[in-house]
Amino acid sequence: MPASENRWPRRLEVIACHVSRVEMLSSGVFELVDRPGSSDRFHDTDHARRGPAPHRFRSRANGSVQPGYGGFSLRTSNGLAGAGFDPTEDVESLRRRGLGDHSTVVDIGCGAGTFVLAVAPHCRRVIAVDVSGVMLGEVARRVKQNAIANVETVQAGFLTYEHSGVPADVVFTRNALHHLPDFWRALALTRLASIMAPAGVLWLRDLVYSHEPVDAGAALERWFDGATEDSKTAYTHEELVEHVRAENSTFSWLLEPLITHAGLRIVGCEVDPSRTYARYECVKVTST
Ligand SMILES: C[S@@+](CC[C@H](N)C(=O)[O-])C[C@H]1O[C@@H](n2cnc3c(N)ncnc32)[C@H](O)[C@@H]1O
Repeated sequence: MPASENRWPRRLEVIACHVSRVEMLSSGVFELVDRPGSSDRFHDTDHARRGPAPHRFRSRANGSVQPGYGGFSLRTSNGLAGAGFDPTEDVESLRRRGLGDHSTVVDIGCGAGTFVLAVAPHCRRVIAVDVSGVMLGEVARRVKQNAIANVETVQAGFLTYEHSGVPADVVFTRNALHHLPDFWRALALTRLASIMAPAGVLWLRDLVYSHEPVDAGAALERWFDGATEDSKTAYTHEELVEHVRAENSTFSWLLEPLITHAGLRIVGCEVDPSRTYARYECVKVTST
């Protein structure tokens, strides 16, 4: 699509950049340094509020301190590795659906690039997008280490990424869309649809609640009970609790209308037995 059709009104763009900055601080790359008036960050429910807040965050990578916003940065994992993830099945499934040497792939919220590295040998061009420069640095390091030539990194988010070149045949995103609340999630999905080729696929994996509100207590308890003790392999109990409390994961029956409203058709959906993870395969609806 011509870049002009993908332009945002200036005011929305400014707000989107602000939201993206909030989410950058949630990536696990930063840790909370202090917040005046609160000495107990884990038990202060007030920090879940949005908006300007006088927190200070320290980069886990280089120790630099910068101001930020509250409620998002209390992940206890180290952020870089994230929870264990084997992308083989995703790549194989996408290849069965037409991913090939001609394909352009965008991984948005790519983290340290696990999917990026796995998909690169099977397509023409991979664009690794993340709001975190530290994550993208790790992607670049791994790409170089593996002598991969078809990967580009772009520091941007769902709300700010500007696609160039031929439209994406595959948009992949895993465990990242939950950073956005519904209003912004709807805009993000619409933006993703706008960069997709007519037969393009959105491969969306995320923490999504596929149960009824009345069952939430029992479902979440079961999920927490299954948590690991080692944050290098999966999410710990503390991280899961924090996710539910502070992140924007939503119900599948709220997410699905947002997907279809964005001009995408859900052609496949897999729900994890815990009913807290889902994978959606969506195709772009084209008018005939
Ligand atoms: C839990 S990690 C998942 C990383 C990777 N997709 C994976 O599955 O291993 C979430 C990633 O989303 C990124 N992120 C947060 N907010 C974002 C936004 N608005 N747009 C794009 N990426 C975002 C974070 O920097 C982080 O790298």
